[in-house]
Amino acid sequence: MIPGILKKAVLMTLGPPVKYIISQMGIHDEVNHKINFIEQTIQDIYPDQLIFSEDTLQEIERLKRLFELPANLDMGISKNDMMVRHYINHGFDVKAAVRAYLVRGLGLMDVVEKVAERKWGRAWPFKIGPFLDFASGYGTLERHLVHYIPADDIYTSDIKEMGIRFQTEKFKVNGISSSFRPEEFEPGIKFKFIFVASLFSHLPGNLFIKWLKQLWNNLDDEGVLVFTVHDISLITSQTEFFYSPVSEDSHSVVKDRLLKPESYGTAYVSEEYLRKCFEEMGLTAAHYARYRKCSGGLQDVYIVSRDIDRFEGIRFNTYDSELI
Ligand SMILES: C[S@@+](CC[C@H](N)C(=O)[O-])C[C@H]1O[C@@H](n2cnc3c(N)ncnc32)[C@H](O)[C@@H]1O
Repeated sequence: MIPGILKKAVLMTLGPPVKYIISQMGIHDEVNHKINFIEQTIQDIYPDQLIFSEDTLQEIERLKRLFELPANLDMGISKNDMMVRHYINHGFDVKAAVRAYLVRGLGLMDVVEKVAERKWGRAWPFKIGPFLDFASGYGTLERHLVHYIPADDIYTSDIKEMGIRFQTEKFKVNGISSSFRPEEFEPGIKFKFIFVASLFSHLPGNLFIKWLKQLWNNLDDEGVLVFTVHDISLITSQTEFFYSPVSEDSHSVVKDRLLKPESYGTAYVSEEYLRKCFEEMGLTAAHYARYRKCSGGLQDVYIVSRDIDRFEGIRFNTYDSELI
C-alpha cells in the first residue's frame, strides 16, 4: 500500500519536470520529420481525387439509398479538400470520414432548402438564383445543390483557386475569385441568396465585421444572407469574441493550405457581438434569426434579411453521421 502511494507521489512530483526535459531533448524531432516527409510525399504523388476502397464505395451507395439521393450524385472528392481531411485528422477512417462529409453536405443543403422554401415557397428553386456559396471549399454543398437548381444560377467563391477550379470543372457552376481583403471582393452581381458555412467561425475580429458588411452589400434587397458561427459558450471565455490563430489548415500538407494566422484561424462570438455588428449595418433583432448548434450539431446558423421576423420556427433536420 505504502510503496504504491510513494510511487504515485514520486511520479506526481517528478513526472512533469522529467517529461519536460525529455521534450526539450528533441528526441522525437527526427521521427516527426520523417513522418512529415512521408505524408508530404504521399500527398504529392497521389492522384487529384481520393481513391475509395470497395467498402467505401458501398457505403456511399448505402447512404444514397438511405437518403433517397440521386443515383448520379458525384462523390468525387479532391485530395486537397480539408473538409474531408479534417475528419481523417481527427481519427475517422476513410469510410467514416466520407460518410461524415456526405452527411455534412446534406445538413448544409437542408438549411439552404428550408430557408429558401420559407422565403419563396415551393417554387424556390426558380427564385433563389443568383446564389452565392461563399468560402465554399471544394464543393461540400455544390454536389447536392446542382440537383436542385441550374448550375448556371450557382456562383462559388473561395480564396483557394484550386477549390474553385475543382468545382467549376466538376459541377459546371460559376466561379468567383476571393481575396483576403473584403473590400476587394466585387463580384458585380447582387445575389438573392448568400450562404457562408464555416468562414465566420475562422475570421479574426477586424475581418469579421468587414466581411459581414461586404457580403451584405452584395445581396439583393430582397435577398437572404445565411452564415454559421461558433458561439462563445463553446469555450470558457469572459469576452464577446475570441480568436485563436490555429485552424484545420495549420498542420496540413495540402498545397493550398492557409497559413495566414492574421486572416484565418478559429473564432468564437456571442450573439451580443453579432447584434452590435447588425446594428452597424442598420439592422435590428427583428432582421435576424438564430438557430443554435444547427450546423453539424456545433455551429449556430444566423439568417439575416430585410424582412422582419420571417425566419423563426424553421424545423431543420439534424444529422449525426455516427448514428447512420
Ligand atoms: C472550414 S472551410 C468551409 C468550406 C465549406 N463552406 C464547407 O462548409 O464545407 C472554410 C473555407 O473558407 C475559405 N476562406 C478563407 N478565407 C477566405 C476568404 N477571404 N475568401 C473566401 N474564402 C475564404 C477557406 O479556403 C476554406 O475553403
